Amino acid sequence: MPPVFTLACAIHVDFFEALEVMADKLATYPAGCLVLERADGTIGGYAVSHPYVKGRVPKLNHVLRGLPTEADVYYIHDIAIDPAARGQGHAEAAVLLLARQAREAGFTEMRLLSVNNSEGFWTRRGFAPVGNETVDVSSYGDGAIYMFQSL
Ligand SMILES: CC(C)(COP(=O)(O)OP(=O)(O)OC[C@H]1O[C@@H](n2cnc3c(N)ncnc32)[C@H](O)[C@@H]1OP(=O)(O)O)[C@@H](O)C(=O)NCCC(=O)NCCS
Repeated sequence: MPPVFTLACAIHVDFFEALEVMADKLATYPAGCLVLERADGTIGGYAVSHPYVKGRVPKLNHVLRGLPTEADVYYIHDIAIDPAARGQGHAEAAVLLLARQAREAGFTEMRLLSVNNSEGFWTRRGFAPVGNETVDVSSYGDGAIYMFQSL
């Protein structure tokens, strides 16, 4: 966790999550967590995802307190790649791995909140804005876009 937390703090300067919040997600749904490990053992990226509920977004920097019993969608909380390792397909590979996990867990749809002007990246990976639902994304500031992809 410590190198992942360090990377998250460096990349998500506007979206701080405490180490215990990240550790809670790993403990709650380890099958949805990935790290990109370099040949020298250092961490170049990570992904965090878990089952959740359509129309709801986990509040930033809050522990999950378990998965919702009514979970009906697979939620990608974050994919982040060290700037030095970007543009090599690592995030795309993570999306494919998480989609496989989602399918194996029985879900037919993935959702996420696009931040940091990442909408184009997600659109090119098959996601589109959720148009007909009101979702509280206030803890993520202006510019966050709630997106979905059918599996
Ligand atoms: C968004 C983010 C995760 C993308 O990571 P990445 O590893 O660079 O993503 P990929 O390499 O898979 O794809 C990036 C681009 O490189 C291209 N690419 C993939 N493999 C490539 C290769 N071998 N050579 C050159 N380009 C390549 C992809 O086609 C893609 O282009 P596109 O987005 O125009 O379609 C990364 O920019 C990041 O960490 N951003 C900050 C955190 C963040 O905002 N995360 C999203 C939160 S919702």
